[in-house]
Amino acid sequence: MQLSTVRSPTAGLFFGLIITLAAVVAYAWYTTQQISGVRALQNNLVDRNRKDSLQLLRIQNDLNSLALAMRDMLDNDEPYPLTAWKAQFQRIRSDLDNALRVEEELAATHRTPEQREYLAKQLAQFWDAVERTFALAGDGKPDEARAQIRLTLQARQAALSTAVARLLVENNESEQQANQQIGRIYDRVQRQVYGFLGVTLAAILLTSLYLIYTNRQLFAQLATLSGQRSELAQKLIATQESTLRHISRELHDEFGQIPTAVGSMLGRAEKHAPENSPVRAELKEVRGIAQTTLDNVRSLSQALHPVMLDESGLESTVDWYLSTVEKQTGIDISYEKTENVFPVRGGAGIHVYRVLQEALNNVTRHSGANKAWVRLRFLTDRLELEVEDHGKGFPAEAANPGIGLVAMRERAELLEGRIEFAEPPGGGTRIRLTVPREKAESHAE
Ligand SMILES: Nc1ncnc2c1ncn2[C@@H]1O[C@H](COP(=O)(O)OP(=O)(O)OP(=O)(O)O)[C@@H](O)[C@H]1O
Ligand SMILES: [Mg+2]
Repeated sequence: MQLSTVRSPTAGLFFGLIITLAAVVAYAWYTTQQISGVRALQNNLVDRNRKDSLQLLRIQNDLNSLALAMRDMLDNDEPYPLTAWKAQFQRIRSDLDNALRVEEELAATHRTPEQREYLAKQLAQFWDAVERTFALAGDGKPDEARAQIRLTLQARQAALSTAVARLLVENNESEQQANQQIGRIYDRVQRQVYGFLGVTLAAILLTSLYLIYTNRQLFAQLATLSGQRSELAQKLIATQESTLRHISRELHDEFGQIPTAVGSMLGRAEKHAPENSPVRAELKEVRGIAQTTLDNVRSLSQALHPVMLDESGLESTVDWYLSTVEKQTGIDISYEKTENVFPVRGGAGIHVYRVLQEALNNVTRHSGANKAWVRLRFLTDRLELEVEDHGKGFPAEAANPGIGLVAMRERAELLEGRIEFAEPPGGGTRIRLTVPREKAESHAE
């Protein structure tokens, strides 16, 4: 699978985020709307209704006072003339007017014009009758005035009282309705809240699932790519090693035979030449050249692939190699090894040897240290190679990363072992290669 064929999940995730945010905003807006609706209903309707009912009770109270006054006026035992009640009537009238004005303002929204007209007309008629009654009383006709009270005023008062009582009942009913309406709004809001919550949760869930899905896909592809890359690297390493070994053998066994043969033929020819003759001297010189060529071929062969590894095993090769490195680089190497409990030959040995080579190369090139520690441990279940220096240590960020460390890791993988990079307590670097014993013993290229 190619990484380029994978669609970026950003658009989908962005979409999920927008949906979620939109649901949250819509939900917040809706709830605010509903709550302010409930508040308006309470303010406008329920509160006004209560205030209105209070005024209606005040009116009713005034009407009752009027009824009591009228009853007293009808009572013949009273020593006062009827006109004596006029002041009381005036007082009640002004209170009643005031109460009615306030009530009218409060009830403006839910009272029909007919209701208002009826109340106003009834009241006007009542006060007309009151005026007439007091006029009769003032003219010295108390009996006629009383008759007027009995016939007209009391009836009108009762009618007014009934009308006001009816308004009170209406107010109660509308308050109940408002309360029911509020209850319904709360129910609806609750239902919608669950709905919105569901939508939001679903959006979050879908977005998260999508995220998990794309992540898994990406990780799977990364793993595949990494596996392929590793496989390729290991194949390259294996091919390189087998080619190098082949060339090294050819150089050693085939090409190396030529200077050897030339050298021995020259030796024989030398013996046949007269002693101290210039021919003999020249033959000796040429034999020297043949020997140098042979040495060069051998060391090239050794450098490409130490034949020693196949012949004497890893342990001897490391001995030889470390002394060469010490001579070539001037680095003091402290070498520790445990007793060899199992042989490691060419197949696995070359990888261990290359790791050692690269690690020591790095010590020389990067660490700045002039001493290194090499430890080779043959343990019962594994082989361990450790290369340590107390130099600069790995830089925090490698400016120009090479492939030495990568190749070390791939070689470790080839041997089904592992490689660890650590910093020893004194600073510097420590590289440890661990190879399972069965791989170290039996690995074939
Ligand atoms: N022993 C060490 N001490 C300090 N730094 C080291 C040591 N070994 C490696 N490094 C750091 O790690 C980096 C990577 O090492 P690596 O062997 O992978 O690459 P390289 O040696 O630079 O190049 P290459 O090995 O491909 O020729 C080096 O460039 C160096 O900075
Ligand atoms: Mg290197």
